[in-house]
Formats: sequence, structure tokens, C-alpha cells
Amino acid sequence: MIADKILTNFSQIFCPIDNGQPLKGAEMDQANVIENGFIAIKDGKILKVAAGEPEASLIGSHTKIVDYSGKLASPGLIDCHTHLVYGGSRENEFAKKLNGVSYLDILKEGGGILSTVRSTRSASFENLYDKSKRLLDQMIIHGVTTVEAKSGYGLNWETEKRQLEVVKELNHNHPIDLVSTFMAAHAVPPEFDGDGDAFIEMIIAEMLPQVKEENLAEFCDIFCETGVFTAKQSLRLLEAAKELGFKLRIHADEIDSIGGVDVAAELNTVSAEHLMAATDEGIKKMSESGVIGNLLPGTTFSLMKDTYAPAKKMLDAGMAITLSTDSNPGSCPTSNIQFIMQLGCFKMYLTPVQVFNAVTINAAYSVGLGDQIGSFKEGKLADIAIWDAPNVDYPLYFFATNLVQDVYKHGELVSK
Ligand code: NIG
Ligand code: FE
Repeated sequence: MIADKILTNFSQIFCPIDNGQPLKGAEMDQANVIENGFIAIKDGKILKVAAGEPEASLIGSHTKIVDYSGKLASPGLIDCHTHLVYGGSRENEFAKKLNGVSYLDILKEGGGILSTVRSTRSASFENLYDKSKRLLDQMIIHGVTTVEAKSGYGLNWETEKRQLEVVKELNHNHPIDLVSTFMAAHAVPPEFDGDGDAFIEMIIAEMLPQVKEENLAEFCDIFCETGVFTAKQSLRLLEAAKELGFKLRIHADEIDSIGGVDVAAELNTVSAEHLMAATDEGIKKMSESGVIGNLLPGTTFSLMKDTYAPAKKMLDAGMAITLSTDSNPGSCPTSNIQFIMQLGCFKMYLTPVQVFNAVTINAAYSVGLGDQIGSFKEGKLADIAIWDAPNVDYPLYFFATNLVQDVYKHGELVSK
């Protein structure tokens, strides 16, 4: 078959092993790293990836050939945990944090998430759209081609809906593909006066059915944490969401281990996210129930903690893990997934191959798109990050500089 485009002469191509499911435990150490190879693209999809020169049968008179001598190619990166859409920002809390006031104490005083809720409620659709688009523009130049985006800064229907509609509109208009998660259970809104149970019942009765009916999100998520939502409330909400056909994620063991992981294991959520405070017992449960561990080392860094999620233990227990930014205005104000990948190495001692698997093949399965993205299997979308780096180790080792040179989305060059 004749290719539309051939990207060639790569010094390395990182090809995750694609068995139709996330890579678990020791499988995450493996990848096909092709030396001196090419990527042939047809109709926006992968036609062939192989070592050596492209054969004559791939090349027609219209085939565009692009030379990438000395560069590394990987599948487009997938940021599978972000709080993308929000009003305002929270750098005003930074000095407090530096003076030792904790994240949960700032929230208790009505700051933190609740401060962003106020700014988001008062922001227009256009304002939220522009801000989120700017974040996506940043993400794409760092090699990201798919993003999961959570709501959760409205905590009332009007604003949650506005957030979800911004994601829908951006999914149409921006080259990045978006996967939407409904997360109204992100904090108890002030008008509920601390009554989390009542708020959860309201979400179940009034919001969840509308999100489903208007097809505004595929996943449902909840922040299971001390002073936010209990494990019991998390179970109640996620069970109701499951019945309506939502896929499930849960913010668990971010700061304290209060049972979120048990809920994840019981309901077989696609992932449990954060897991900084995960216990050995929790890891065993997640491993047995096939819950993907979504790790967010940028949040540990930004919260100025030393306890990174025990990634190695999770791999030893046979879990699949992903890494993402958690991009949000409070606990992790960044859009740079490369820095997160580097923290995966520097702070969690993951290897470059494990890190690349975490943000490609595993992240693809964790957002429900494992059949379309995350590897270079023939027929998958030609979402590609091209690195100004000679090998897989280099962009993890050479930190805090954007080393992505080009990004292809559905076979088209989108950033330069
Ligand atoms: O994932 N944990 C809860 N939610 C976000 C933080 C949101 C915020 O601080 O605005 C998180 O860390
Ligand atoms: Fe989060």
C-alpha cells in the first residue's frame, strides 16, 4: 500500500508492546525500540513502523517524505488526569504554603479548591474556553495528543455543565482529543454547609442523569480524602454512576489513606489516582482487581512532600501504572508532562522505558482509547511525538527543557 507520508531516518522509535491491554508489573520494562527506522502513515493512521529504509512499495508520486535523522519518535503522549477547566489561579496561596500551611488547612479555611470554585462560577464560557485552550496549546507543544479533563470547580449544575461543555467544544476545535470526566464530587460546596451526604444525594438525583442524557462525560470521579468525601460516600456515588453506565475513576490515598482504594477494588474502577499514601495492603487489592495506579508526582512536588507514590512497589505487585500532570490551579499548576515523566525517574526511580509505557500504552487504556492510540500498531491513529533526542533515555535524563520538536495528530503536523 502507498503511504501518504513517511517520517524516516529516526535514530530510535519507541514502540510500546501492545497486547490489547495495559502493561502490568514487569511487562512495563519491555518495549520494542527500533533503531534507524521509519513511520509510514496513510489516512491519518499508522501503516507501518519498521527498521531500515522504507520499501519502494510504500512510496508513490504523492508520498511526502520527511527526514528526522538523529531524532526519537514515540506515540503521542496521553495526559490521563487533568483538571483542565477552571477560572482564576491561586498563586496568592503560595506564600502560605511556603510558610507551612497545609493543602487541607487552606481548603478548610475556604481557600484551595473552594477559591477556584468561586472564580469558576463567575467565569463565562468564553473565558473558561480561552484559558483551557491556552493550557492545551502548552500541552501539545510538550508532545501531548490526548487529555483527560475533569470537571469539579462548579459544584452546582450550571457551572459543572459549563465546564463539561467547554471540554466538548475544545474536543471539536482543538487538535488534542479530550476525554471528559464528571467530578462534581470534588469538594462540598459552601451552600451545603458541610453536609457531604446531602451533596452526594443531589449529585446522584440531579446531576448524574443529566450528564448522561446530554452525553457530557464518559467517566465519573470523586475526591475521597480526609475532610472531603468518605469512602462510604465515594462508594455510594460511584455505584450510582456505574449503574448509569459511567466508567469510574477515584482520587484515592492522595494525602491520607481512608479507604478510597478499597472502593476502587470493590467496584473495579478503571483507575485509582494519586496514591501517594498507598499502603501495601491497598497495593495488593488494586493488583488483584486490575485497578490501574495513576501516579501524579508533580502534585507531590508541588505540595512540597517527600512521599512519592510507591511506584516500584506497585510494579513489584504486578500493577499497571500511568503518570499524568494532574494539571490544576492548586495542587499541581503545570501543563508540562515531560517534567512529570522526569519526576517519575528522579523521584520514583522508574526507568525511561517504564515512564514512556506509562504515558503512552497504559494511559491509552486508562482513558478507554486503547484500541485507537498509545502504540504504533498498524491501524492506530498516527499520533506521534518527535523528540530532539537521540534515544529514549535522553529526554528523561536531560530535564526541565522541552525536547519535543514536532507533533503529529492523526497524521498531520500540528505544532512547529
Ligand atoms: O487532584 N485532589 C483533588 N483535586 C486536585 C486538586 C485541585 C485543586 O487544588 O484545585 C488534585 O490534586
Ligand atoms: Fe486530581
